[in-house]
Amino acid sequence: MRLKVAVLPGDGIGPEVIKVAMRVLRTLADISGFELQSQEYPVGGAALGESGFPLPKTTLDQCLESDAVLLGAVGAPQFDKLPQDRRPEAGLLQLRIALGGYANLRPAIAYNALTECSPLRPSVVAGANVLFGRELLGGLYFGEPRGMDTATRSAWNTMRYSEPEIERVARVAFDLGKQRSLKVTSVDKANVLETSQLWRSVVSRVGASYSDVSLEHMYVDAFAMHLVANPKRFDVVLTENLFGDILSDEAAAITGSLGMLPSASIGGAVNLYEPVHGSAPDIAGKNIANPLGAIASVAMMLRHTFAMHREADEVESAIRSVLQQGYRTADIHRSPGEQQVSTTEMGSLVEEALAAAVIRRQAYHAV
Ligand code: NAD
Ligand code: IPM
Ligand code: MN
Repeated sequence: MRLKVAVLPGDGIGPEVIKVAMRVLRTLADISGFELQSQEYPVGGAALGESGFPLPKTTLDQCLESDAVLLGAVGAPQFDKLPQDRRPEAGLLQLRIALGGYANLRPAIAYNALTECSPLRPSVVAGANVLFGRELLGGLYFGEPRGMDTATRSAWNTMRYSEPEIERVARVAFDLGKQRSLKVTSVDKANVLETSQLWRSVVSRVGASYSDVSLEHMYVDAFAMHLVANPKRFDVVLTENLFGDILSDEAAAITGSLGMLPSASIGGAVNLYEPVHGSAPDIAGKNIANPLGAIASVAMMLRHTFAMHREADEVESAIRSVLQQGYRTADIHRSPGEQQVSTTEMGSLVEEALAAAVIRRQAYHAV
């Protein structure tokens, strides 16, 4: 088996967490005996100096020729004044459109070892495991018309959805619901927005063909409250693009840190894997960023692109085991009993735990 992965480290802490995540994947490849072909390409602010564009043509072409893409993060304050289409974030949005993954899966898991990390009470978060299915290619992010009139100091964006766009992401959410606890919560603002009224009716119709999966609808404002008041009541959460962006960051509070969250954008020509967090300019260059969201994104890649379910489980178990042993990056370090480690140290610990587990499994199967 040969895995061809395009690696786009990007800006800020992106290169720091991606380097570590790729080392974990490389270790797994070496021990498991699959071939890993990976190559780095510039994106975001890191691409602007060379090409003037946040998504250079070679980067995009190479991504389209790969089996999967792993991206760190894009953006930095010095690029915030650039014209909209030259900003690092525009490069990421162009890449998402070009790769075509419309279903952005963002799991937020409250690991047992980290329940004390959350600003929420341990009894509230313990056992929480919410999987967001965020629609990624529609809504306010891409709707036309959009623009700004500097003379009149007015600006506008359009939230637009069509039935097929809603239906395809809803199917992904219900399929995931079938594999999990048979429950989907669809989040909208149908009491105000026409796009949400269409959303609700399409999701209801799709849901009716999944008779074993229960469906509840919830308004986004109430959901934002219930998510932190009682996250355990949710399993798969289906929502539109902007709501999903905001709510998945909110869900980070359940896990203890934004650095914990991975994501997978599936359904298109090439799947895209990226941690949920941004370039974190406030901590970039210090080797203190949490790489676990990036490493967990590699686990999602193994599962969703390469159908290497056992290996994906092993990467996730290695993360759990390192946390269980009390190792913490700064963002999840809370008490003197825990050992604070750097980005690279956390990566090495996950590599060691993973290697030990894979070798144990191989030895077991050899007898
Ligand atoms: P951010 O996610 O970069 O950071 C928010 C907070 O979380 C910061 O305090 C940061 O230090 C912390 N944080 C984030 N990731 C962490 C990690 N792995 N370990 C420890 N702490 C972590 O959001 P922001 O500050 O609002 O945005 C910074 C830049 O990133 C902006 O240019 C924004 O547009 C961009 N951004 C990019 C992506 C992406 O590439 N997918 C996502 C979000 C934001
Ligand atoms: C994310 C980010 C992006 C988004 C930005 C950087 C375009 O916030 O992946 O959550 O809004 O989707
Ligand atoms: Mn976001």
